[in-house]
Amino acid sequence: MSNLYAEAYDQSIHDPDAFWGPIAEECHWYKRWDKVLDDSNKPFYRWFTGGEMNTCYNALDLHIDNGIGENTALIYDSPVTDTKREYTFLDLRDEVAKFAGVLAAKNVKKGDRVIIYMPMIPEAMIAMLACARIGAVHSVVFGGFAANELATRINDAKPKVIVSASCGIETKKVIPYKPLLDEAIHLAKSKPESCVIFQRKMSQAELKSGRDFDWDDLMGEAKPHDCVPVKATDPLYILYTSGTTGEPKGVVRDNGGHMVALKWSMKAIYGVDQGDVYWAASDIGWVVGHSYIVYGPLFSGCTTILYEGKPVGTPDAGAFWRVIAEHGVKSMFTAPTAFRAIKQQDPEAKLMKDYDLSAFKILFLAGERTDPDTLKWAETNIKVPVIDHWWQTETGWAIAANCMGLHHFPVKPGSPTKAVPGWDVQVVDPNTKPVAPGEIGAIVVKLPLPPGTLPTLWQNDKRYVEAYLEEFPGYYKTADAGYIDEEGYIYVMTRTDDIINVAGHRLSTGAMEEVLANHPLVAECAVMGVDDQLKGQVPLGFLVLNAGVTESHDKIIKEAIQMVRDQIGPVAAFKTATVVKRLPKTRSGKILRGTMRSIADCKAYKVPATIDDPAILDEIEESLGAIGYGKKAP
Ligand code: COA
Ligand code: AMP
Repeated sequence: MSNLYAEAYDQSIHDPDAFWGPIAEECHWYKRWDKVLDDSNKPFYRWFTGGEMNTCYNALDLHIDNGIGENTALIYDSPVTDTKREYTFLDLRDEVAKFAGVLAAKNVKKGDRVIIYMPMIPEAMIAMLACARIGAVHSVVFGGFAANELATRINDAKPKVIVSASCGIETKKVIPYKPLLDEAIHLAKSKPESCVIFQRKMSQAELKSGRDFDWDDLMGEAKPHDCVPVKATDPLYILYTSGTTGEPKGVVRDNGGHMVALKWSMKAIYGVDQGDVYWAASDIGWVVGHSYIVYGPLFSGCTTILYEGKPVGTPDAGAFWRVIAEHGVKSMFTAPTAFRAIKQQDPEAKLMKDYDLSAFKILFLAGERTDPDTLKWAETNIKVPVIDHWWQTETGWAIAANCMGLHHFPVKPGSPTKAVPGWDVQVVDPNTKPVAPGEIGAIVVKLPLPPGTLPTLWQNDKRYVEAYLEEFPGYYKTADAGYIDEEGYIYVMTRTDDIINVAGHRLSTGAMEEVLANHPLVAECAVMGVDDQLKGQVPLGFLVLNAGVTESHDKIIKEAIQMVRDQIGPVAAFKTATVVKRLPKTRSGKILRGTMRSIADCKAYKVPATIDDPAILDEIEESLGAIGYGKKAP
C-alpha cells in the first residue's frame, strides 16, 4: 500500500541520510553537520557529527525569533495546590535564562552534571532547560524513589549541583523531599558542591549553610545566561532506568539526534503542530516526561501541560476530562493504568458529560501493553482514536506506533501497530535467525538505531554493548518478546528479563530480591510480577527463612516490605509477600519464577521436565491461595 507512512518508512531504512537530513534542516544549527549518520566506529553509531546547536535555543528562543514568543509554551495545572499558571515562550525563556545564570554562578560548566530531584512543578522544567542552555547534563530522578536510589545515581553521575524542592504532594499527602535528599547525600560517596532548593509553602526545608541555597534568593540576583553551542553528539541528559541488577543503567541522550527525532515525531506520530495543545500526563522523572512534557512539544512550538495531579482523587475521576476541556488539549498521552483507574471509579464515564471535549482528537497510550478492555472503554467513551504505541527509556521515542500524521492504519487490539520510520524491527530466534510471521521470538532492531536513541550508557560503553548489542550481533536487543503478523503489526508480549511494569513505572524484581536477601532471617527469596487489575503488574515476594527461625512470619514480612520501601521507594508498590518452605527450582538450581507466576495468575503451565521436585508446586499453590492468588484463592 502506498501512503506517506510507507514512503517514509522505506526511505528511512534504505537511505537514512536522505530521510533525516531534510528533517534536521528545520531545526536551528550554529554549525551544520558533516555527516548525518556516522558509522565510522561501529557498533557506536552517531548522528549529525560535526554539527553544533543548542537544545534550549530550539525549544524556546527559536520560537521567539520566529515571532511566536507570546504564544503559550507551558500551562502548569496543579489540582493538588489549586494553582494554574501559564508561561509564554518569552516568560519561560526569561526564567530559564535566569536559572542558567544561577547554575553558571554555581560553577556549572558545559559537560558538568546536575541532578534534578523535584516534583511536577514548572521549576523542574526550568532547571532541565537551563542545563541544556549552558550545555550541562541533567539527570532527573523520579520523586517516588528512596534516598538509597538517589544516592546510587549521585555516585554514578557525580553532579556538581543538585536542584530539589522542599516537598512533593501526592494527592493530599505532603512528602518532604529534603530529608530524602540529605540522606542520599550522606549515603553517597560523591558529594555535590551545592544544592538549590525551591521552597514550597506547604513544607519549608531547612537549609544547610554553605551547601544549600534558596531558589528564590539565587534567582533574585542571577544574570540571564545565553545559549551555549554544543556538539550534536554531546550529552543532553542521563536518565537512570532499571537494569537486571540493583545498579540502574544510565541511559545517555545526545543533543542533536534527540532534537531532530522528537521534533519530527510530534507531527508524524502525534499529529500535532505549532500552536496545538499537547498533554503528556506522566512525570518528568520518566522518559515520557523528558520527551513529551518538556522537549518534543517545545521543539514543535506546541503548548505543553505540566499536570501535578493524578487521574483519580484530585479530586475525582473527571480530572483528565477537566484538563482536556479547560486547556483545549488536541492530543494526549498517558499510561493505560491511568485509564484503568478512571474506569474503575467511573465505569460509565458519567463525569465526562460535564466537559466539552470537542477539541480532543487523539489519545495515545504507552508504558505497558494496552489491554483490549481498556482500549474498548476509551474508544467507546471518548470517541476518538486510541493509539497504543511501544517504546522504552533507552529509545527515547516510539519504536512502534500508528503514525497519525502519516497514515492511520486500522487498530488491532493488543498491537501498537507497525514499526515507526527509522526502526527496522525484526523478531528472531536465539541464533538471530528471523522467525516466520506470527511466531514468537525476541524483538530486536537492526542497527543503526535512529537518531534520539541511546548512543551508550553513562561512562560505560562495556555495559552498553553487553546489555544491548552482544546477544544478537548487528541488532539492538529490546528485551521484549513478541511477534509480527503477516501485515507487519507488532505484538509486544512480555519482557525477557526481570523488568516489570507497575502502573507504568519500570522496576526490576532482581533489585527487590537484592534488598530482601539482606533481611537477616531470609535465606532465599524470589520476586515476580503478577497480574493486577489496576496497575497491570505488581511485585509479589516469596521468602524462605533460615532454619530454626521462630519469629512470627507476619513480622518478618512487614519488615521485608518496609525494607523495599525504604531502599527502593514507595513507587515499587511492594506490598505482598509470603513465607514458603522452599522455592521450586530446576535440577541446576534455577528458580522457576515463570512457573510460579503462572500459578499466581491462574494461567496454564507445563511442569518443567527439569524440575527438581514437582511436589513443591503444590506447596506454592497453597501459599499463594492463602494470600489471595492462584486457583486456591478464596
Ligand atoms: N513522589 C513521592 N512519592 C510518589 C511519587 C512521587 N513523585 N509518585 C508515586 N509516589 C508514591 C505514591 O504516593 C504511592 O505511595 P503509597 O504506597 O504511600 O500510597 C506509591 O508511590 C505508588 O504510587 P503509584 O504507583 O502512582 O500508585 P497510586 O496508587 O498512588 O496511583 C495510579 C495509581 C494508577 C493512579 C497512578 O500510578 C497513575 O496515575 N499512573 C499513571 C502512570 C504514569 O504516569 N506512568 C508514567 C509512564 S507514561
Ligand atoms: P520504560 O523504559 O519504563 O518506558 O519501559 C519500557 C518497557 O515497557 C518496554 O520494554 C515494554 O516491556 C513495556 N512497554 C512500553 N510500552 C509498551 C506497549 N505499548 N506495549 C507493550 N509493552 C510496552
